[in-house]
Amino acid sequence: MPDLPMPAIDSGHVFFFGLGYTAFRLARRMRDAGWRVSGTVRSAEKASALEAAEGFAVHVFDGTAPIAATEPFAGVTHLVDTIPPRDIVVPALERHRGDLRACSSLRWVGYLSTPAVYGDRQGGVVTEDEPPTPGSRRGALRAEAERAWLDAFSGSGVAVQVFRIAGIYGPGGGRNALEQLKAGKARIVDKPGQVFNRIHVDDIGSILLASMARPRDGGIYNVADTEACPPGDPIVFAAGLLGIDPPTPVPFDSAELSEMARSFYSECKRLDTTRLSEELGVTLTYPTYREGLRAIAAGGLSV
Ligand SMILES: NC(=O)c1ccc[n+]([C@@H]2O[C@H](COP(=O)([O-])OP(=O)(O)OC[C@H]3O[C@@H](n4cnc5c(N)ncnc54)[C@H](OP(=O)(O)O)[C@@H]3O)[C@@H](O)[C@H]2O)c1
Repeated sequence: MPDLPMPAIDSGHVFFFGLGYTAFRLARRMRDAGWRVSGTVRSAEKASALEAAEGFAVHVFDGTAPIAATEPFAGVTHLVDTIPPRDIVVPALERHRGDLRACSSLRWVGYLSTPAVYGDRQGGVVTEDEPPTPGSRRGALRAEAERAWLDAFSGSGVAVQVFRIAGIYGPGGGRNALEQLKAGKARIVDKPGQVFNRIHVDDIGSILLASMARPRDGGIYNVADTEACPPGDPIVFAAGLLGIDPPTPVPFDSAELSEMARSFYSECKRLDTTRLSEELGVTLTYPTYREGLRAIAAGGLSV
């Protein structure tokens, strides 16, 4: 595995609303660099397991009630929200807006959003300066959540950033085409002209760290690799790495897709990521799925 960048930032105390796939990998990286790590998950079992195995302070939070601990944000300097909007658009703000505004140590907030806020751009290139034009309920909720975070600390010294993240892949958890092929779960949905960007989970971590080193209140960043491509390309490439045949493409119109997947395939855009390099100084470790999948294959598969 390549060495991952760790910008020179004074280590502090990072709090993750939602210690899921992306947050967990960044949390480990920050802990190993000397940070205190706290966060939330939805079940007491997962919280205890994470505390025991990783040394994080983990609270149970499912959005229906505030975190039970007194002062869960004491000393928190950086906050990352990874919880997707559902019935409650931003559970963290719904339950803890006052606590977070009163947290005098807090200086940086990052909200993980999605390019669904742009709606369908018929394959066009989209930059962060274009206003959100969501075409789905999913996108509309995300745009609302972004606005809520961007407005939450106005008039304070806290810098709030929004990250619009492409399709996440990476090692473990069935989150890559290699594991999906081995598990017999890889599918190629054929929709002519359809392309989308992806991003390796550890490049997301590097981008968040780069933003922590260069905060900009109100900063919005497309978080994506350098190659928007058809959905099947990484699967064909992964099959080549495994020395097996890729699955036969299924036409979009006859593919059995979840509501979420159908909404995803109904939109097509290419994400401009100039801001990542020019403003944050980021060089992706995995500029395309090829570098990412090769590294995952070299690291061994957890299936
Ligand atoms: N997957 C993609 O390709 C993709 C692309 C763009 C953006 N995103 C978004 O980027 C973010 C990070 O993605 P990820 O794949 O790392 O997410 P993930 O693994 O699904 O983690 C989400 C975290 O949020 C927690 N959570 C979910 N619903 C919650 C609720 N209602 N109340 C409280 N906590 C809740 C989960 O708790 P538990 O740990 O208990 O499960 C988990 O810790 C998510 O918002 C995701 O929607 C994902």
